[in-house]
Amino acid sequence: MTTKELQDRIIALKKETDTCILAHTYQSHEILEIADITGDSFALSRQATKTSNRRLLMCGVRFMAETAKLLAPDRTVLLSSPDAGCPMAEQFTREDILALREKYPDHAVVSYINTTAAIKTVSDVCVTSASALNIVKNLPQNKILFIPDCNLGAYVAEAVPEKEFVFVNGGCPVHAAVTKEEVIRAKEKHPNALFLVHPECKKEVQVLADFVGSTTAIMDFARASKEKEFIIGTENSIVTHLQYECPDKFFYPLSAGLICRDMRLTTLPDVLACLEGKGGEEITLDEKTLVDARRCIDEMIRLG
Ligand code: 13P
Ligand code: SF4
Repeated sequence: MTTKELQDRIIALKKETDTCILAHTYQSHEILEIADITGDSFALSRQATKTSNRRLLMCGVRFMAETAKLLAPDRTVLLSSPDAGCPMAEQFTREDILALREKYPDHAVVSYINTTAAIKTVSDVCVTSASALNIVKNLPQNKILFIPDCNLGAYVAEAVPEKEFVFVNGGCPVHAAVTKEEVIRAKEKHPNALFLVHPECKKEVQVLADFVGSTTAIMDFARASKEKEFIIGTENSIVTHLQYECPDKFFYPLSAGLICRDMRLTTLPDVLACLEGKGGEEITLDEKTLVDARRCIDEMIRLG
């Protein structure tokens, strides 16, 4: 089947099966075209509950599908590519976090949404890259144990100096691999470009940026800016999406290595197979996990 035929079949089938397709902005253009809801992790979480469809199909990675299930436990939630995980989400276990809770009993456990549902059961509140600053500011506690991304944590800590932070040694292997030398080279190559970066990158990279924000914030900044050239310091799919949306501007990848293998696993044939009941995976969580993990997602939405 051609791309267009696959897309037409998916669009027909999602209607027939009362399925809402959610897609993270790191997905390919052809996936975003067949999605009903697109956005960063925070937008996907907020929108998952707003649809009335019987089934939700996530084009993204496992923690995103789990979050949709936590928010909409009465729906069937499907992950079109079961192998798509987020390496950061699996860097710590529930037991690791329980041990840290014992070590830091008076700290609020703030966990990045890029964590498993099991970790969320022992966290006080979740944050996304778009909501972290607000949520940490709004938390009543002054002592924060921020897990697992120490780069996002350091970015938040700098903006909220009145609070005390403890970090663990975790983070996104894709973003954390970028070096300041790559930024310097990109800036030399494109001296008129603004540099926009995701807070999962290291501090040495963030300090060289004109703007630091979530994937949606980076896209909004570039769309609204009067400038014409941008170096994009996040997954390279965002370069493609922005170039498509803003053909009169120029977008350059910060690094050829900014590719999330997991986010790229989802293809149109996977989505079609999932809708046909021939592929994908239904996400199920036990009752206790649903209740315990939901608490920190609800806190995220309340405080964010
Ligand atoms: P956002 O919070 O910007 O959606 O980022 C999710 C993610 O996986 C970034 O690597
Ligand atoms: Fe996880 Fe990083 Fe991929 Fe985002 S880009 S899904 S944080 S590995």
